[in-house]
Amino acid sequence: MTFSKAISASVGYSKSVESRLKIQHLQQLTIASPDGSDVVKGLTHNPKYLSPRYFYDDRGSELFEEICELPEYYVTRTETSILQNCAEEIADITGESELIELGSGSSTKTRILLDAYHKKGYPLRYLPIDVSAGILEASARQLLVDYPSLQVHALAGTYEQALEQLQPSELPSRTIGFIGSTLGNLNPQECDNFLSQITAALQLGEYFLLGVDLRKPKHILEAAYDDSAGVTAAFNLNMLNHLNRRFDGNFDLSKFEHWAFYNETKYQIEMHLRSLESQSIELRSLNLKVNFDPGETINTEISRKFDINGIQELLTKKGLVPQKAWTDDNKWFGLILSKLS
Ligand code: AVJ
Repeated sequence: MTFSKAISASVGYSKSVESRLKIQHLQQLTIASPDGSDVVKGLTHNPKYLSPRYFYDDRGSELFEEICELPEYYVTRTETSILQNCAEEIADITGESELIELGSGSSTKTRILLDAYHKKGYPLRYLPIDVSAGILEASARQLLVDYPSLQVHALAGTYEQALEQLQPSELPSRTIGFIGSTLGNLNPQECDNFLSQITAALQLGEYFLLGVDLRKPKHILEAAYDDSAGVTAAFNLNMLNHLNRRFDGNFDLSKFEHWAFYNETKYQIEMHLRSLESQSIELRSLNLKVNFDPGETINTEISRKFDINGIQELLTKKGLVPQKAWTDDNKWFGLILSKLS
């Protein structure tokens, strides 16, 4: 923190950043694995896969922030512009509400909602949840400096861990935000289970704000996931670095390449890492050796593209009844505010 920032934070505000911040690390509190059993499962499966969760070490979160700025990656820009247009309406519908955000990252888009709540004179309570503890704490601190009345309770852990531990709010309701189209990372079965977990975590009358990427021509989608500057390729390959560090591995990044394509039957982008030669790797702390044929791939992510009506029907089936939906002029991205009914 610079000297001038420190002054404005301590002189201008009645309550310090410290007293308005609480950070909880869920991973250490549960038996559930940060232990890599999912890595063993995925790399011994045919075809091979890894959870996109492993993108987000501190470097990966940084690279993702860079992706969001790319000219080809329309996702963040489009969702931001929709939010700017509808934040006030969201505030009107939810009333005073605690904001819970799954996969909060840098919390940039959340500021639009906080601004709308602040404008209405609502109290500001924010509960960000992210697997990347570094970026979680840094962005929470910056928010607390920028919003003097804000209280933050941050949870470092997976969505599943966090959803099980949510506490009722002192405010009249809670709003769980799952924006940025992260839902697209889940296959249909996982998506169904996930929405059931949301329903279970909420009380009647509480809200779920969902951002989903919509179907659009293949060339637009493929450019967004294989940008000309190579940032998405670096983001994909960084997963191997993360695994090397975390599980004492010896992946050689120069022996893999980024591959992304739009599967038009399943309406999903698929990202893979393709082995450039025959090789074997080892993750020593997992006691795992893995062989690759030349050209063999690891699926690192699916990014499903939704039909705005289809997803609203699914939400309704789960008791999450859409109150209002918004899109941009191109209908490239959708935001849906549902209420547990
Ligand atoms: C964070 C899951 C929404 O699917 O667009 C961006 C991640 N992967 N470029 C997406 C991602 C490659 C992103 N989500």
